[in-house]
Amino acid sequence: MMFEKELAAVLKNDGLDEETVISSFEVPKEAKMGDICLPCFKFAKVMRMAPPLIAAKLLPLVEGLDFVEKVEAVNGYLNIFFSKDIIAKKLISAAIDQPCVGKSEEGKGKTICIDYSSVNIAKPFHIGHLSTTVIGGALYKIFEHLGYNVVGINHLGDWGTQFGKLIVATEKWSTLDEVRNNDEYFLNKLYVRYHKEVETDPSLDDMARAWFKRIEDGDEIAIGYFNVFKEVTMKAVAKIYDRLKIKFDSYNGESFYNDKMQPRLDELDAKGLLVESEGAKVVNLDEWGMPPCLLVKADGATLYATRDIAAAYYRKEAYDFYKCLYVVAYQQNLHFKQVFKVLELMDFAGKDDVEHINFGMVSMEEGSMSTREGRVIWLKDVLDKAVEKARQIIEQKNPGIADKDRIAESVGVGAVIFSALWNNRIKDIVFSYDKVLNFDGETSPYVQYTYARCASALRKGGEIDFDNIDYSSITTDEGYEVVKSILSFKDSVQQAAKFREPCYVTRHIVDLAEKFNKFYIGHRIIVDEDEVRNARLLLTKATSNTLKTGLSLLGIDALEEM
Ligand code: ARG
Repeated sequence: MMFEKELAAVLKNDGLDEETVISSFEVPKEAKMGDICLPCFKFAKVMRMAPPLIAAKLLPLVEGLDFVEKVEAVNGYLNIFFSKDIIAKKLISAAIDQPCVGKSEEGKGKTICIDYSSVNIAKPFHIGHLSTTVIGGALYKIFEHLGYNVVGINHLGDWGTQFGKLIVATEKWSTLDEVRNNDEYFLNKLYVRYHKEVETDPSLDDMARAWFKRIEDGDEIAIGYFNVFKEVTMKAVAKIYDRLKIKFDSYNGESFYNDKMQPRLDELDAKGLLVESEGAKVVNLDEWGMPPCLLVKADGATLYATRDIAAAYYRKEAYDFYKCLYVVAYQQNLHFKQVFKVLELMDFAGKDDVEHINFGMVSMEEGSMSTREGRVIWLKDVLDKAVEKARQIIEQKNPGIADKDRIAESVGVGAVIFSALWNNRIKDIVFSYDKVLNFDGETSPYVQYTYARCASALRKGGEIDFDNIDYSSITTDEGYEVVKSILSFKDSVQQAAKFREPCYVTRHIVDLAEKFNKFYIGHRIIVDEDEVRNARLLLTKATSNTLKTGLSLLGIDALEEM
């Protein structure tokens, strides 16, 4: 639907809030009952009036709006007809200054921190990192589109005993140079080998602990190792981020907070929140039905949660965030509940503005499943395989096309991104190459294909003369469905931001693509009558801009040809 927000803003009334109005709008069954209608029956109780009287009372509120041509109160319904002129104007603006359909300034002056992807050093990117990376990346672009100042933070997992283990493994079975000159998989193999060998030689763990202690103490050799491990991992993830069109403004990870935890621990102590428990320091949370939040181990080591508390303070201080979002799997629900509760007990200034944006798991469909054999599925392999399959499909459908490599990369990677942004975050996903690469499904190749179809029509159609347009040829039947979808795109972007759910955008562009294709199949775009051709080209241009904007908010390329 279009204009629901604008309508709700003027319709709100005693006992009737905007949300209720928005959720009550309906699409009339027949065109003669308007473009949108509001049944007033369920407002009778709160407004203490009969529905026909409510409709009559609301009518004048809508009457003056520029996009409203006519409004009628009929049998308890408010039937609203939109002005075709205004719609036409809006359509033209969607067609020209692009691609930034649905852009707004509503977030101006507000900073949103988004903690996402947050990879662990020395562990290559696996399929489990897909969601946090692309959901976080999409939210980044969506908030930016709405005018917010966004700070993307990669809270690297770059601290912990695994670094001691890696040093031991490097010294025993490799050299620092060899690690430096190899990729992240090589590093990972050393890590895996360590875990195998430690089963028969537990003394390795003592060595690893000793090495980690040297890192903590700032020992030059140990830090040298640490930096190489980090470098190798970062080089590898940078390639993946590039392919997924993901960017960060900060890579301050766990190690960054080494010197920022003590002041927080002191504060907790001073507030009487920190208690000793078997030598460790914890904050008790039984009152809230949670296990204690462990902050310092008996050996003095700090923990993941300690670093998150220091990080929250640091971010508030550094960015003065309006919201700080943590895009992390639901397995960490308890962790964030504990950390947020501790922050609340500390009366942290941003305590009401930290949010865990959780999501479900991604697994591979039967057949490609390999976790049973204990193998991890690397994200790079998934992307490569999707690109390879996309290439085969393109080869079949359009063998003569130029630049197949680039197109296959955009289609393959786009399909993977899309698959993680199609559903509500919390749903688990079963990934299947065939499903995500289906050109006729609810997929990104389908949207990309529709975009390319628009682009091709626009190339053939030539210049659009905006002064010579027969709007009636696009404000009826299938054409009008497309118009409505284009003009309500901005609402979906807002919903996506509000609920932190990129799927509002994903679903909107699929819906628009479907509607446009229906129109395209039923109508020739390039007809002889100038004013009809201009109208249809205008619709095509506005559609293509909207699709391109939507795709770009998800991090997916729009292709002029495919
Ligand atoms: N590195 C962590 C993991 O892979 C995710 C970190 C999320 N961010 C945070 N501030 N805790 O599980």
